[in-house]
Amino acid sequence: MARAGIYWAITLLAASVGASNAQTSPEPYLHVPAARQLKWHSLEYYAFVHFGHNTFTGEEWGRSQSPPDVFNPTSLDTDQWAQSFANAGMKGMILTAKHHDGMTLWNSSTTAYKIANSAWAKNRTEQGLDSDVVRMAAESAKKYGIRFGIYLSPWDIHRDPAMPKPSLAGTIFDEPQIFGDDSPGDYNELYSQQLTELLTMELSDGSKIDVFELWLDGASGSDTVQTFDWARYRDIIREHQPEAVMWGHQGVDARWVGNEDGYTLETNWHTINVTQDDARLGEQELMVGARDGIYWTPAESDARIRDGWFWHEEEKPKTGDALMTMYLETVGRSVALNLDVPPNTRGLIQNEDITSLMEFKDLRESLLGQEILHPGANLTASSVREGNSDKFGPQKMLDGRDDTYWTMNDEETTGWVEIDFGHACSVNGFVVQEHIALGQRIGSYTLEAFVGDEYTTIVNGTSIGYKRIDTLSNTVSTSRIRFSITQSNAVPVLQRFQVLGSNDENVS
Ligand SMILES: *[C@@H]1O[C@H](CO)[C@@H](O)[C@H](O)[C@H]1NC(C)=O
Ligand SMILES: *[C@@H]1O[C@H](CO)[C@@H](O)[C@H](O)[C@H]1NC(C)=O
Ligand SMILES: *[C@@H]1O[C@H](CO)[C@@H](O)[C@H](O)[C@H]1NC(C)=O
Ligand SMILES: *[C@@H]1O[C@H](CO)[C@@H](O)[C@H](O)[C@H]1NC(C)=O
Ligand SMILES: *[C@@H]1O[C@H](CO)[C@@H](O)[C@H](O)[C@H]1NC(C)=O
Repeated sequence: MARAGIYWAITLLAASVGASNAQTSPEPYLHVPAARQLKWHSLEYYAFVHFGHNTFTGEEWGRSQSPPDVFNPTSLDTDQWAQSFANAGMKGMILTAKHHDGMTLWNSSTTAYKIANSAWAKNRTEQGLDSDVVRMAAESAKKYGIRFGIYLSPWDIHRDPAMPKPSLAGTIFDEPQIFGDDSPGDYNELYSQQLTELLTMELSDGSKIDVFELWLDGASGSDTVQTFDWARYRDIIREHQPEAVMWGHQGVDARWVGNEDGYTLETNWHTINVTQDDARLGEQELMVGARDGIYWTPAESDARIRDGWFWHEEEKPKTGDALMTMYLETVGRSVALNLDVPPNTRGLIQNEDITSLMEFKDLRESLLGQEILHPGANLTASSVREGNSDKFGPQKMLDGRDDTYWTMNDEETTGWVEIDFGHACSVNGFVVQEHIALGQRIGSYTLEAFVGDEYTTIVNGTSIGYKRIDTLSNTVSTSRIRFSITQSNAVPVLQRFQVLGSNDENVS
């Protein structure tokens, strides 16, 4: 009797586990993004703003070490930056609070080498105006509804004994060459204070600065003797801005894409197997990442609208078409685009650059705006998880939500969705998103169009990840599309599928 009771209990338990599985979502696959990374993925496109000493000296790396008076923007307007970026569809801006030259754009207590000590700042103060460019830019970003990020160069020429500074000799700017981890006046102490000042800055409305990304440039001069206490920097960032994504060569939260040209290869894994403290990955490894890797460290592409990072009068911005190509080869391959748009010597984003940004926006919107599929479109899947179409059916890819998806049973790693438009459409692209909150799974997929009396492959894809945009060099006229997952390391989980093109029936 007792035995039979135990047997029953086990059977019931097994049955109830089976039943609840039928309604449950797939388990996360290996490493998944942190909440701060998920939010960051959805930004996709934001501005890099290189502004400071170099804007006025024509340099990129500030070796001239001119005194702060060199900083003299005649019509500085950070609102114009933020408004231009917001109008162009950018979701944030990252400002060089201090570039390699060491001159700080905020009124730091750590150095005399700051724009607060310029004639420009004195004049602003006399007129009752703020001269703290970091605070001004953060306030403008908030005003125009875009995120604000900070670049604070670890390498600091101003405090690097390997770099000569004859133009500062005998001035108050001829500061000690603080360096090394064990000499008095450790450079890491100074950098940590600078980070803390920035990350705890108060805006004029009394709120604390809100930083979405901290850009920790790995570049430094070949002769430098400065060493960097990355672990300490990371602790300070997490303490004061826990939601900020830390960008570095290979993390912590986002990695370099391996080039500065606004480009990556077709295959892109969001994970890698090394941390910022390991030997540096090469360009190819940074672009591709490591499938099934240990750390979720997605790539960001830092690219430029002009040739240089800082403003140089003789340079011209790239065209809208060139920026569109860049977009398809970064955002279209699951890489965030951090596009540098440098303010000029007046302290304004140049009109020609704004024109390029707006041309690019029009091109982007005209491609992405031609969505053929609307909720209710006829989507048929090879399989739906536990047959529960209301919860896991292919229609979930069209509901515009980021918490619903099409998926199949755990053991099913391949499958397809067929879309019947009911009439001919001109198709010229696709947008696909994996539900990366549960990890990156898919290794290959195809897109086929029904032409004549058979399916023809029009796209052979590899990884998908956060977002994949495929465009066709020739428009295809078809009434049926098939999207197949041909390889996945776990059951595919797809958040979005969209066909771009036009509905031929509506064309008169
Ligand atoms: C910079 O800060 C110091 C110390 O608070 C202050 O005395 C000085 O007026 C500030 N400079 C500017 C330009 O705001
Ligand atoms: C101070 O700023 C005003 C307005 O920007 C400008 O007209 C004036 O020339 C500046 N004065 C100096 C000494 O730079
Ligand atoms: C990364 O690490 C995972 C887990 O150890 C392993 O399966 C994968 O092959 C590694 N990939 C690379 C490119 O090293
Ligand atoms: C939906 O598409 C399937 C093919 O994928 C087709 O067999 C079916 O007739 C379509 N249903 C409607 C209502 O158009
Ligand atoms: C896709 O791959 C198949 C098999 O390798 C090949 O026959 C086909 O031409 C490819 N199609 C495209 C559009 O790349």
